[in-house]
Amino acid sequence: QTGYQLAIIGFGTVGEGVYHAVETSSDKLTRLLGKPLHIPAVLVKDGTKKRNTGAATRIVTQLDELLREKPDIVVEATPDAETGFPYVRRLLELGITVVTANKEMVANHGEVLADLAEKNDAQLLFEGAVAGGIPLLNTLRHTLKTNEILQVNGILNGTSNYVLTKMQREGTPFQNALKEAQEKGYAEAVPDKDVDGWDASFKTAILSQWIYGQAPVWKQKEPAGIREITAEDLALSAQAGGSLKHVATLRKDRYCVTAAVRPCFLFRDHPLYAVEGVNNGVHIEGSIVGDLLLQGPGAGKGPTASAVVEDVVNVLNKTNGKVVQNPIPETSGSADELHSES
Ligand code: HSE
Repeated sequence: QTGYQLAIIGFGTVGEGVYHAVETSSDKLTRLLGKPLHIPAVLVKDGTKKRNTGAATRIVTQLDELLREKPDIVVEATPDAETGFPYVRRLLELGITVVTANKEMVANHGEVLADLAEKNDAQLLFEGAVAGGIPLLNTLRHTLKTNEILQVNGILNGTSNYVLTKMQREGTPFQNALKEAQEKGYAEAVPDKDVDGWDASFKTAILSQWIYGQAPVWKQKEPAGIREITAEDLALSAQAGGSLKHVATLRKDRYCVTAAVRPCFLFRDHPLYAVEGVNNGVHIEGSIVGDLLLQGPGAGKGPTASAVVEDVVNVLNKTNGKVVQNPIPETSGSADELHSES
């Protein structure tokens, strides 16, 4: 088939989301890329399960079978570092570019993988690994590059924010709210990683490397999650004129970068106070721009797929920071008709 060949590893919320985003945006993708984007293969653990894929896509269970389809690029969407790392290492060794949303893998092995990518003339992109649908990493790298980033405070786990919001606004018990977050596809396969703060700390570690090129000095031995927060704590915080949120902080002073991930009491005038539900919010203090707040859906099928597919387009267009030309949308009327209306 002429066109670009994209293979997907993992067909959970993220993999399936990417598959369907590519399918439903196929015309737009063809215009952006100059040729169609095909998905010839998806690698899954259980090859017997029925998947919602078209006839042109083979379901495989081994990396070698996937490689037979000669992918130009691979989306890695497995749930943890242990599963994803061996695949991504092999792909990068073969010089195949990988786009991933696997934060645990990038947090734990990002440097090794970035070196491998460079050695083999491939790339590793991971916008979808931090803050879901918010275009955070690309914004920091491409449109805030002259600013010194003095601090970042973020609500980086959609599940925890969803659970706290449900507990506070609707009185939903913790376990029920967490179950809802799982049903909606927000939570990790092992949701302890969400509510015990690990997911947010993986994202904070990625941000520290991305912004400062170094791992942070953690202010705590382990992240603190939201499990201990009770309905009473939330009611008291509201009475006190604020709210309890799960916040990651990253700060740079003259000597080092420090980080912490823990519940914080935020007054109503805090930039992250109004970030509710599955949304993530990222407050950035830049040396020139001052305070910025980026906000948007931090988890779930569509938002994560959006970040992944945008990375795919950027890398296939080899933009490396240049703006992708967005072709003029086709309109139903001709240019003349549009002019005559004005
Ligand atoms: N489980 C993650 C969250 C998914 O709830 O934020 C997005 O990284």
